[in-house]
Amino acid sequence: MKSSRIAPRKAPPRGFFCTACGGESPRWFGQCPVCSSWNTLVEAPAALGPAARGSRGGRGMRAGGGEGAGEGAARSGSGGARRRWVDSGLIPSPVPLRDVELSASARWPTGIRELDRVLGGGVVPGSLLLVGGDPGIGKSTLMLQLSRALAREGRKVLYVAGEESAPQVRLRAERLGAIPDALFLLCETEVESVLEQATQLRPDAVVVDSIQTAMTAEGTGAPGSVTQVRESALAYLDLAKGAGIPVFLVGHVTKDGAVAGPRVLEHMVDAVLYLEGERYHDVRVLRAAKNRFGSTDELGVFAMAEDGLREVDDASRAFLGESVPRPGAITVGVVEGARPLLVEVQALVTSSSFAQPQRVTNGFDSKRIALLLAVLEKRVGVRVSHGDVFTNVAGGLTLDEPGADLGVLLAVASSREDRLPTPGMIAFGEVGLAGEVRRVRQPASRVREAARLGFTVALVPQAQAAECEGFGVTIVPVSDARAALAAGLGPRRVAARGGAAVGAEGATEGPGEDGA
Ligand code: TYD
Ligand code: MG
Repeated sequence: MKSSRIAPRKAPPRGFFCTACGGESPRWFGQCPVCSSWNTLVEAPAALGPAARGSRGGRGMRAGGGEGAGEGAARSGSGGARRRWVDSGLIPSPVPLRDVELSASARWPTGIRELDRVLGGGVVPGSLLLVGGDPGIGKSTLMLQLSRALAREGRKVLYVAGEESAPQVRLRAERLGAIPDALFLLCETEVESVLEQATQLRPDAVVVDSIQTAMTAEGTGAPGSVTQVRESALAYLDLAKGAGIPVFLVGHVTKDGAVAGPRVLEHMVDAVLYLEGERYHDVRVLRAAKNRFGSTDELGVFAMAEDGLREVDDASRAFLGESVPRPGAITVGVVEGARPLLVEVQALVTSSSFAQPQRVTNGFDSKRIALLLAVLEKRVGVRVSHGDVFTNVAGGLTLDEPGADLGVLLAVASSREDRLPTPGMIAFGEVGLAGEVRRVRQPASRVREAARLGFTVALVPQAQAAECEGFGVTIVPVSDARAALAAGLGPRRVAARGGAAVGAEGATEGPGEDGA
């Protein structure tokens, strides 16, 4: 409503937006076509807030459809406990921009370095954060550690447990170390009760574990339903903004990976952190899918130990395989945020017993893999179209950096042709459709990381070879995929496909035989 009044008259294009659900309409209606609330449409520039963007992307539309009426009522109604925070005189009024205090100092570092890195330096008061991840991955553990860290600084933290009983939470907390006095537990799922208690306790931070168990009278449906999740999150949004305290919402990713709960909330919150990893391995990666207060490039690396999540000082080591060369395993150098990381990528190519060969991809974008396989087949002449191809990133990491391309290509070719990679080698480079190896950002930092971890050879894009010198690593410049195979892989180990038999230990430091 405010924005329609202060927006410049001519700012095109304009649309009508529902103040209840954020739904967009091309013209004015008495009733919102998205959420069916009455008299909620206002005129505003088409590029509106995140709520509107969410619904234009289709997600909000679906989420709001049919169920949004409850939300409209809740937002425009006089409200229950939730409104109290807003009515408590904390509603902001306009201030001259130059009088705005810089809040950089208002960040609260948690002292958990890997977490601070992802948060962008610490917790921002008044922010609403979502922490998503598979069940059992360690979200509750991380939140409890965060709560402990804040409470140790003397900040009153309210941990709202909706999934576990009080003794269970205490047992877990004891594994993590001494329990600070300022850490409070509330086993409650009803949002109104939580807000009531929060009004009494006046905590400095709140953790809600989990938002899927939260239930509010303002919503309809069972806990975990879209309406309940959104309504509850809205209530906690009011708490965060009204009371100026950080609120952390824990959200499960559903089985099929279509983050039903967290996804609905992504546009509402200030930051979305995902905790990833393979359940039966100890490495956990925390990454920000969205962060209004920091970069989304940074990774936090943890290892799940007996006493909670430990920060991993040497992130690269967590993702490295054994140092013995194996066919199908290549170490790639990537840069995540400001940090170079060495990661082992693996591929397995087998002859397929299916009419349509399988492509199973873990940790890569499957379309990217399809593209790389096509390049390998067409530009290098390595036949993979009739085989099943499995690709994997060690440690459950997800790699979307193009610098990993060259490593994936080498890993697939290495497995397909049973050729050992050069010992002590890393590779990086983006691979183009013509098979050319293209530049990546920060090549030198990748080579420096390789040197630090004892690697001796680096396959790098030819155009960047000069930048990579000087670290005591042998630089092998490659201009295209074919040259990379020749330089990075040894001869075939067995004569399985009609070639001459070659010794298994035949991996060479220099260029091997032609891969075609
Ligand atoms: P949890 O935090 O409950 O996961 P989530 O909240 O994401 O569902 O963590 C569950 C797993 O972590 C469980 O298998 C036990 C393990 N764990 C440890 O290995 N060490 C610890 O110190 C703790 C607290 C948990
Ligand atoms: Mg949990």
